[in-house]
Amino acid sequence: MGYKDVYARWQADPEGFWMDAAQAIDWDKPPSKALFDDNAPIYEWFSDGMVNTCYNAVDRHVERGRGDQVAIIYDSPITGRQQKITYAELQDRVARFAGGLAARGIAKGDRVIIYMPMVPEALIAMLAVTRIGAIHSVVFGGFASNELAVRIDDAMPKAIIAGSAGIEPNRIVPYKPLLDGAIDIAKHKPDFTVIFQREEKPADLKPGYDIDWAEIAAADPVACLPVEGNHPCYVLYTSGTTGQPKGVIRHTAGHLVALNWTMKNIYNVDPGDVFWAASDVGWVVGHSYITYGPLVHGNTTIVFEGKPVGTPDAGTFWRVISEHGVKSFFTAPTAFRAVKREDPTGEFVTKYDLSCLKTVYLAGERADPDTIVWAQNHLKVPVIDHWWQTETGYSIAANPVGIELLPVKLGSPSVPMPGYDIHILDEGGHEVKAGTLGAIAIKLPLPPGTLPTLWNAEDRYRKSYLTTFPGYYETGDAGYKDEEGYLYIMARTDDVINVAGHRLSTGGMEEVLASHPDVAECAVIGVTDELKGQLPLGFLCLNAGATRDHKEVVAECVKLVRDKIGPVAAFKAAVVVDRLPKTRSGKILRGTMVSIADGNAFKMPATIDDPQILDEITEALQTLGYAKP
Ligand code: COA
Ligand code: AMP
Repeated sequence: MGYKDVYARWQADPEGFWMDAAQAIDWDKPPSKALFDDNAPIYEWFSDGMVNTCYNAVDRHVERGRGDQVAIIYDSPITGRQQKITYAELQDRVARFAGGLAARGIAKGDRVIIYMPMVPEALIAMLAVTRIGAIHSVVFGGFASNELAVRIDDAMPKAIIAGSAGIEPNRIVPYKPLLDGAIDIAKHKPDFTVIFQREEKPADLKPGYDIDWAEIAAADPVACLPVEGNHPCYVLYTSGTTGQPKGVIRHTAGHLVALNWTMKNIYNVDPGDVFWAASDVGWVVGHSYITYGPLVHGNTTIVFEGKPVGTPDAGTFWRVISEHGVKSFFTAPTAFRAVKREDPTGEFVTKYDLSCLKTVYLAGERADPDTIVWAQNHLKVPVIDHWWQTETGYSIAANPVGIELLPVKLGSPSVPMPGYDIHILDEGGHEVKAGTLGAIAIKLPLPPGTLPTLWNAEDRYRKSYLTTFPGYYETGDAGYKDEEGYLYIMARTDDVINVAGHRLSTGGMEEVLASHPDVAECAVIGVTDELKGQLPLGFLCLNAGATRDHKEVVAECVKLVRDKIGPVAAFKAAVVVDRLPKTRSGKILRGTMVSIADGNAFKMPATIDDPQILDEITEALQTLGYAKP
């Protein structure tokens, strides 16, 4: 069957399609049906089945004879360490760690925050939490105390598992003080923490509160606890339009079924093959394709602690692929742009035998044609762009290589995957013609494995995703379809920007800037950046009578965002202006400011209050090297 047949089969019988896919999962009690729609438009999948995530990711492979297969390869060019963990070892380590958590009172439904660098212990922690039916919420290491505190207050975890430090190329980042700071700021106080001590920077532990990882890891092993299909496996926070992140919930059963389906059909790997997603467990890509997808499917996954360049050079990716026999490789376009910048002629590529590599996958941001062509030319394998979101957990549109490699069209993540009925709508909710830009919406229900709702925020879920186009999920992306049904994802329709493949909220940054005592009003926009795709840029209007040196205020604002949100925000530039361009009703014209900054033509907004301000903004942007005439 080709792609069209598979998609048509799903369209004709979604229930049968997903029940078939569910057979690849080991159930303690099989579900009686796939879709549960009694509470529509809130949908659930496989709710009455009983199943355990960790059992499917680990134990079942050991029981079926894969115990000696390597499950996790840890490759850390930044520390010079490597480690291989077989499925049998993984089972023992996860079962013991789960036992240690259970002995400390963690039980089904309890939340556990994980704040770890890219070490195998991060995966062990995730799996151990799901083993006992608890719910993890992983927080990316590049977020500072305040962001962690916001997540603590929302998820209300009973425990936090953290590394003592993360290691960045230019510095060691002590996580423990950031964690202590977050617990101080948060209203909710976890019962205890578990600290994985890193040799490079061990942390001081508070007796009775901070427990050494080794102590929990030495506990007696416990078995997997079957949970209901709609029991949350995890909550992952992602940026929305405000500083309050959205807690995306992932239900257990749909997650297992869908991810397992994607491993062969999209990524074209068979059990035993080596699969590598060069991301971080703090992001959805890391959840789905460093931890769960490959392990549930019986693949070998790679935990890479390093950067595309500088650890030690632009050949790191190729070294890892060649040394470990990676068949399918997944990264963000920004990572390739970084490599391409250092090695435009692909010299490093030629130093390694990459005959194992069959396909490369890109996601997280728009993949620019130049980058794809560079990768195609040097790697000589298909380079597949695919489009997805934290909310969906896997790709909405892709090129299903395991079914059929469709022609690659540069700039397009190809076609809808089974489960996704994608429509391009105008403001009134009417379908637009092929080639016309519109809001991208997905007909409900979304497929298994996608978010059923938001943690503690069902109203926000309905308002953010289900209200604009009744009967559809609003993706927040704008784009178009061509005559052959290929999708093109062009921009966000909200205040979310994408910096180096990381999703960030300009609204969240504005909230931080507004808290500076000299700032009366501000705006943050995402300007185009050659390396990172987009970079945030701030505009500050100071309080009347503020006599401070502008440079000083800007430096304080940059530091404030780094301290409050974290280095990952990459907020490094801001400019002081007298006024912000607004519509007559007071809405800041951020889109127009982006066009000016990027040097693109724009139409003067009909509702602009004072067009003169745009000249002032242009001048200010030119001082920073933007808005080139
Ligand atoms: N812990 C602490 N700090 C972190 C961190 C972590 N886990 N990850 C990143 N940071 C810091 C970085 O050190 C950097 O700090 P700096 O301002 O002091 O330099 C800042 O956050 C920004 O990090 P990053 O966006 O990673 O930029 P970079 O300049 O270090 O590297 C790239 C640039 C392109 C190489 C890098 O962004 C990259 O590899 N991106 C891949 C993106 C990706 O995997 N996305 C996941 C979705 S698929
Ligand atoms: P995240 O939730 O961090 O995965 O970010 C999701 C957003 O990243 C999407 O809504 C898009 O705006 C953008 N994105 C992800 N993948 C792609 C892609 N392949 N092409 C264009 N944009 C993408």
